[in-house]
Amino acid sequence: MVELLPSILSADFAHLADQVAAAEHGGGTVIHVDVMDGHFVPNITLGPPVVASLRKATKLPLDCHLMIEHPDEYIPAFADAGANWVSVHYEACRHLHRTLELIAHHGMKPAVVLNPATRVNFIVDILPMLHHVLIMSVNPGFGGQSFIPFSLDKIWRLKQLREEMGLKFRIEVDGGVAHDTIAPIVQAGADLLVAGNAVFGAGRPEEDARALLSAARQAAGE
Ligand code: DX5
Ligand code: ZN
Repeated sequence: MVELLPSILSADFAHLADQVAAAEHGGGTVIHVDVMDGHFVPNITLGPPVVASLRKATKLPLDCHLMIEHPDEYIPAFADAGANWVSVHYEACRHLHRTLELIAHHGMKPAVVLNPATRVNFIVDILPMLHHVLIMSVNPGFGGQSFIPFSLDKIWRLKQLREEMGLKFRIEVDGGVAHDTIAPIVQAGADLLVAGNAVFGAGRPEEDARALLSAARQAAGE
């Protein structure tokens, strides 16, 4: 089953609860929360206090994408704030296995994110620990960028590995997911589809989420 994960990065932050509710009415089933520290990526967004407010505003799982250095130091705070899924960047973690164990120890679902230039093969040994793998299909930091086409090969490779290894982790894609890119993304094997600009950019989150999800389901044959 494909799922749509509206990314609040492109939402109106002064009306976050309403924006999330609209995206949920449009069929969003997990809320994607982009945490940026101004060091790992050249942008600053939000942290645990906003996650705690979101936790009160929706019952949907909160998927926290940590684009931060030293994520271990903040994982307990995200757990306290009510995060459900936490993904950390391969490129930001010197002791990735330890970090993933820390996330799981705090009762959250662990995931790894790969930047466009990072190979899927680097994480083969830890795939059994993961709830999902997040393939960045843009360089992280900003919404509204164009999808990088070779990301499709990485999705396909991950799907192959999942079959070969008999695993169940899910495959998430983030960056440039929109009407003109969603069919090949789904056909390559992604089932968690993050979309920021395509959901919130035009100010019609409910309608645009619904249309995007419908295109994804059609491409998946669901
Ligand atoms: C980018 C973020 C994304 C962002 C995607 O660094 O990780 O989640 O919101 O935005 P769109 O869907 O606009 O490419
Ligand atoms: Zn993201």
